[in-house]
Amino acid sequence: MLSDLHCHILPGIDDGARDEEMSGALLASEREQGAGQIIFTPHFYADRMQTEKFIEDRDRAFAGMEDRVLSLGLMAQKGAEVRMQEKLLDMDLAPLRLGNTHYFLLEWPFSAYPMWGEDVVYKLLDQGIRPLFAHIERYEYFFRNEENLEYFRSLGCLFQVNADTVLNPRQQYQVFHLIKDGYLHVTASDAHNTAGRPSNLKKALDCIRENLGDPIADWMIRNADHIFHDRPVEILTRDIVSSYKNI
Ligand SMILES: [Fe+2]
Repeated sequence: MLSDLHCHILPGIDDGARDEEMSGALLASEREQGAGQIIFTPHFYADRMQTEKFIEDRDRAFAGMEDRVLSLGLMAQKGAEVRMQEKLLDMDLAPLRLGNTHYFLLEWPFSAYPMWGEDVVYKLLDQGIRPLFAHIERYEYFFRNEENLEYFRSLGCLFQVNADTVLNPRQQYQVFHLIKDGYLHVTASDAHNTAGRPSNLKKALDCIRENLGDPIADWMIRNADHIFHDRPVEILTRDIVSSYKNI
């Protein structure tokens, strides 16, 4: 069973699914692909949103879809994709965790590395919350810089790649390279809509399986399951590494 930890499927709350019909279509597609566990992660921007209001809106959007979620046999949790902003340093971040877990989906700025970003990471870690960096491929300062990744990995941070990026021939080589070096722990759909940004979760995992082998694909699938159930992710063992296919 697959787990999707990052998506914008809840209707009418951000730039994701615009209504319940599209939301339902995205849920059905997830189910068809073999996803059984989903965390809904609408965008959260601290500079223009209040946590309480965000949670109220998110929970209302979820309530409208709950029957559909249940009828598809999906297990669901509510979370957020939180943009890295300096204001986070003054906020209680616990309510924005991924569901009931000790994980937190953090979206970094696309252009430049913020010097105070590290302080936000430490704030989360001090509270026992583990940051999962959303779509690492969006930030050159991480995607093309293993030293920076190593620094945050050594602190206990985890890294997610979007399914579409795994499938993109222009980015695939670097994605495989980072997976092999242990810098990508999970993939997720980041699905927004049925047309331009659907969920390609299964395709991406099949692609990883085909190019890197079963052990690494299964390791990534298990990691997403561990996060969903608030367990620690698995260390990349020598056995898994030595089973890599050549690419
Ligand atoms: Fe997202």
